[in-house]
Amino acid sequence: MALASESRHGLWSGRWLFVLAAAGSAVGLGNIWKFPYIAGENGGGAFVLIYLVCVAAVGIPIMMSEVMLGRAGRASPINAMRTLSAKANASKLWSYVGWMGVAAGFLILSYYTVIAGWALNYVWLTVQGAFEGISSDSAARVYADLLADPLQMIMWQTIFVALTIWIVGKGVTKGLEMAVRIFMPVLFVLLIVLLVYGFNSSGFDQGLAFMFDLKFDAVTPQTWLIALGQAFFTLSLAMGAMMAYGAYVPEGTNIGSTVVVIALLDTVVAVSAGLAIFPIVFANGLEPSQGPGLMFVTLPLAFGQLPLGAVFGTVFFVLVSFAAITSAISLMEPALAYLVEEYNAKRKRVAVSLGVICWALGLGTVFSFNIWAESYIVGELNYFGFIDYVSQNIMLPLGGMFIAIFAVWVVPKDILKKQLGLRKGWQTLLWKFVGGVVAPLGVLAVFVSIILPLFVG
Ligand code: PFF
Repeated sequence: MALASESRHGLWSGRWLFVLAAAGSAVGLGNIWKFPYIAGENGGGAFVLIYLVCVAAVGIPIMMSEVMLGRAGRASPINAMRTLSAKANASKLWSYVGWMGVAAGFLILSYYTVIAGWALNYVWLTVQGAFEGISSDSAARVYADLLADPLQMIMWQTIFVALTIWIVGKGVTKGLEMAVRIFMPVLFVLLIVLLVYGFNSSGFDQGLAFMFDLKFDAVTPQTWLIALGQAFFTLSLAMGAMMAYGAYVPEGTNIGSTVVVIALLDTVVAVSAGLAIFPIVFANGLEPSQGPGLMFVTLPLAFGQLPLGAVFGTVFFVLVSFAAITSAISLMEPALAYLVEEYNAKRKRVAVSLGVICWALGLGTVFSFNIWAESYIVGELNYFGFIDYVSQNIMLPLGGMFIAIFAVWVVPKDILKKQLGLRKGWQTLLWKFVGGVVAPLGVLAVFVSIILPLFVG
């Protein structure tokens, strides 16, 4: 059986559409909210350097593996892994790697849509100038009130899920591609607007120092863990997303150089987000808080104090919402593609069914911030804490490691060479060393350091 040259779901209209779609998946809440504050807290420029090493040594090879497996299999991650393991006469168990990715992506989607719903709520609030001249207590109260109100959260989550269903249901060209064609350029422009705004604010030097001063004394082994985890999450790895998107990449596209462009874009956005956010925070004499508080309390407060703050605050939350929607669609696509293939089902119908399941799973996350906040599943982890922990700390590293091992050591050589265009001996050697040794071992080290303490105490 020859491998298909086109997926039944269609193909990207060209290399750049794939770049936009994959960058759309990669650029999300992880870049705009998470990266800036973990970089600031964990050594500034020193963290950025470590993060770059993780992206280069682990992130890029695993993304190449995923895109390559997707394109070679020309199907959803589960079926791509099935076809390729059969081609390689390898164990059928490899298809479980596809399953794990699809499941992890879906679990993450269930809470991603809730948090993205908060961003939508903040667009609504900033448009009305709700934060103008607000005090820090009141800003904190707006956020606390949202979290305490399940109905309000469910309403915004529902709108966000509906939007995701609508886009994904329209298919690769008319849905996914159309969305990234519109949202990604707007996102880049909004980011530049905010960068210029931050650059002209009085807090720019302080913001720059917070993110880039080389604070090597803040670096511990834990820093490597955080950096690698961030690289996985922000590059959308091991969740089926890149493999599903890889299935739609045209034959002539060079996977290596394209993946490098995607990783660079993602990093540039993350760093720019920090350079836009921190100057605004410092210009108001505020301290960058950790966690969701930075995006949903400190920033609105900061915008509220600045001239034209309502306008730029709105720009910011529109940016976050656009970044989130182009990530959410990539989290639904793997499961959707699988169901369409398996049951020959209509895309729209599958999108609605998956959307409803995701919405229902997301209710658990909604309640985790209020009525179930103290209902613990394991230790001190409530529902949201639990699915976040299991998907990010267990399913992602395991999935990533197996994907790299499969791509380098199991997939037949001729497929590998053709997909990656490996022509020279040194290219194959480099690929085997970085993709097949450095990346899996790096992930293994992180995985063991997360899991081992749980058992050793
Ligand atoms: N990369 C996204 C972010 O940084 O927010 C999150 C994400 C999207 C993870 C899609 C995984 C994925 F498949």
